Amino acid sequence: MSAKIISGTETAKAIREELKTEVAQLKEKHDLVPGLVTILVGEDPASQSYVAAKNKTAHNLGIHSEQITLDVETSEEDLLALVDKYNNDPKIHGILVQLPLPKHINEAKVLYTIDPNKDVDGFHPVNVGKMMLGEQCFLPCTPHGCLELLQRSGIETSGAEVVVIGRSNIVGKPVANLMMQKRKGGNATVTLCHTRTKDMDFHTKRADILVVAAGVANMIKADQVKEGVVVIDVGVNRIGMSKTGKAILAGDVEFESVKEKASAITPVPGGVGPMTITMLMKNTVQAARQLSGLE
Ligand code: GUN
Repeated sequence: MSAKIISGTETAKAIREELKTEVAQLKEKHDLVPGLVTILVGEDPASQSYVAAKNKTAHNLGIHSEQITLDVETSEEDLLALVDKYNNDPKIHGILVQLPLPKHINEAKVLYTIDPNKDVDGFHPVNVGKMMLGEQCFLPCTPHGCLELLQRSGIETSGAEVVVIGRSNIVGKPVANLMMQKRKGGNATVTLCHTRTKDMDFHTKRADILVVAAGVANMIKADQVKEGVVVIDVGVNRIGMSKTGKAILAGDVEFESVKEKASAITPVPGGVGPMTITMLMKNTVQAARQLSGLE
């Protein structure tokens, strides 16, 4: 069996078309243009390319976007002051500080400073807490993208054995939490594996749905999964450089071998990545509506 390829590119395209229409209507009916600011500190090439992609997508959808790049030596105080400036800027509805930040800056302090009503990443503890409680909030973009991909691909999560690999605040923990919730796209029996898990294969081999966010290129091989598994590969690992200077990417799952055993699988690139950006756009539009009293 060769797996159905779950295309994040195609799914994201469909959602972006919906968003484009929504943004145009907001402008026409309410003279409202959703605004997003991205703040990048330093010159990490992966972060640079993510931030550029976020701004390009925003622009294509008619969302106002500002891209701020700060010197790697920028002080924590200056960064906090900038965040505060955007907290008070009525043109901006979403604030995204790209992670990771340089070591001299306290990441938590920065994330806590973002107005929870403008926290389109869903990283502020108020939004994390609301998510955990199943309340309306900004959902973190990558986990939300994984859920949308499953849902729009017609994959049933209710009662499924879901195994998540990785316990980061950005992906592993929230994905596990969302998939166990009593709601559409949830209701799964969730196991979360991490670096201290004793017998990883025991868990991966019994997964109906395997979500891998470990950050290790090609870590999951075909002999670690069961026939018919659905695989969501969140990994984006730079494994080399092409002759034209483009990064060569690999997921956390060995795509070529695992796709022969899986029933469905996301590719890298073109899987979860485009969905993350699209969910950020969705959150920005949601933030604009809420801050303008439309919801
Ligand atoms: N770094 C890696 N993923 C993300 C993300 O979703 N948001 C932010 N702000 N930084 C990241």
